[in-house]
Amino acid sequence: MAKEIEAIIAKQGVLCIEAAAGPTGFTVFGASGDMAYRKLYPSLYELYRRGLMSDHFYVLGCGRSELSDDSFRDSIEKRLRQEADAPDGEKLRSFARHFFYTSGSYEDDAFYQAIGRCLGRLDEQFNVSGSRIFYLSVPPFLYESIVEKLGQMKLQCSPVSSRVQAVRLVIEKPFGRDFDSAQHLDASLHQHFDESQIYRIDHYLGKETVQNLLIFRFANSLFEPLWNRNYIEHIQITAAEEVGVEHRAGYYDSSGALRDMFQNHLLQMLSLVAMEPPVSFNADSIRDEKVKLLRSVRRICPEDVSEYFVRGQYTSGASGKGYLDEQEVRPGSITETFAAGKVFVDNWRWRGVPFYLRTGKRLARKLTEIVITFKAVPHSMFRAGGLEDIPANVLRFQIQPAEGMYLGLQAKRPGSKICMSSLEMAVDYQEVFGVKMPEAYQRLLLDCMLGDATLFTPHDSVLNSWDILTPVLESWSENKEIDLYPAGSTGPQVQNKLWPDSHSGWSAL
Ligand code: BG6
Repeated sequence: MAKEIEAIIAKQGVLCIEAAAGPTGFTVFGASGDMAYRKLYPSLYELYRRGLMSDHFYVLGCGRSELSDDSFRDSIEKRLRQEADAPDGEKLRSFARHFFYTSGSYEDDAFYQAIGRCLGRLDEQFNVSGSRIFYLSVPPFLYESIVEKLGQMKLQCSPVSSRVQAVRLVIEKPFGRDFDSAQHLDASLHQHFDESQIYRIDHYLGKETVQNLLIFRFANSLFEPLWNRNYIEHIQITAAEEVGVEHRAGYYDSSGALRDMFQNHLLQMLSLVAMEPPVSFNADSIRDEKVKLLRSVRRICPEDVSEYFVRGQYTSGASGKGYLDEQEVRPGSITETFAAGKVFVDNWRWRGVPFYLRTGKRLARKLTEIVITFKAVPHSMFRAGGLEDIPANVLRFQIQPAEGMYLGLQAKRPGSKICMSSLEMAVDYQEVFGVKMPEAYQRLLLDCMLGDATLFTPHDSVLNSWDILTPVLESWSENKEIDLYPAGSTGPQVQNKLWPDSHSGWSAL
């Protein structure tokens, strides 16, 4: 039974219940890789520091690099010392004592036999009651072969629990690179794991402000009646990055913005902002509504793609060199580093309301936000005073940086009789709650250990997202033209053609 920690924040009248994880044995493939050191270990440590990990846990690192248990532990301690705000020496050392390592080649049966022996020993030593999590922090092309070997060696069968859910598999996006490959990947995973055991991580769903969309929409009665085609003019979702492709150009060049950010993060945010109210806050209800929403997204034909989607690539500019000059990018590559689209949701709630989505690298600044623009007042009674066009109300969820919510309203400015001014009611999360926003991986790892799949992406969501984007991928693979934008700018000009004149256009970057 998970122990429950309750914290009552009297000032805000908030009750938070955070359940701690039960006994868990982690097996991390790609354990000596960058991703594991940057995201996985710091998040596990933070959970440990906060008392949210059971004492009965171990991490078995598996990878190609040859490391002893001790050198693996030392490298983790060293990294966490650099990362953690105030690393506690003793705590770090006791955390590292839960780590073990075994090396080998992912294709080699002997490697998995060795892993099997380690798991048998560690399960017993840490008394994890058969709870095993296999975490694949490896390049996606290895997913199928690793899962196949796990299955052959029966490592995914819990030695002490008949509940299949006691054993889980965690994979990171990208889940395939198009509809067919995603379907193929699912079929391979499902040969050895039930869908209820597969946790597909989309780290955006672990972000506090993204989760807040659910609370905001379904724990307040104020906005839900307005949340439809009668009151909303359009919705935009932006995930702009200041950074370029950094050290990942090899992967990125065969992926591009549509696959890297749009198919997953943007469409997941779209589904949360537009889905119908789920029956309850549990994985199945929420996942059902999200899938229903993705099914309602209008499919377009490849011939119409240019009317709905645009792409761009950065050239050298104020914030750095051009994409083609990045190391490991193929000469003459037309991989898009910017993608924007206008999508429609064909259901009773949203018919006719455009959703504008955009993402890109090397843009003017980092900004992830969802902006809801309401319809303007139908008639201005202030026309005589020269106020013909009254700006519409705008509700903004800022996801990063500086998480918060902002509502734009019109108000009378003190002074002359009719003088109107736009103002913004602001809620800055950090200021109000007085805490640093936790890293998304902490939430997701804890949920995975608890067996709560609410914030993970189910296979039908993945397939629907690919289905929405397939015509775009097809059309772009045939058409070799791409619009350019200087690094550090707001993206290619062509993005503006998605907007009709009557709409206000992209929010400022
Ligand atoms: C990842 C993408 O999923 O998200 C990266 O693969 C991108 O290309 C990253 O940089 C952005 O994440 P965040 O949390 O910084 O917005």
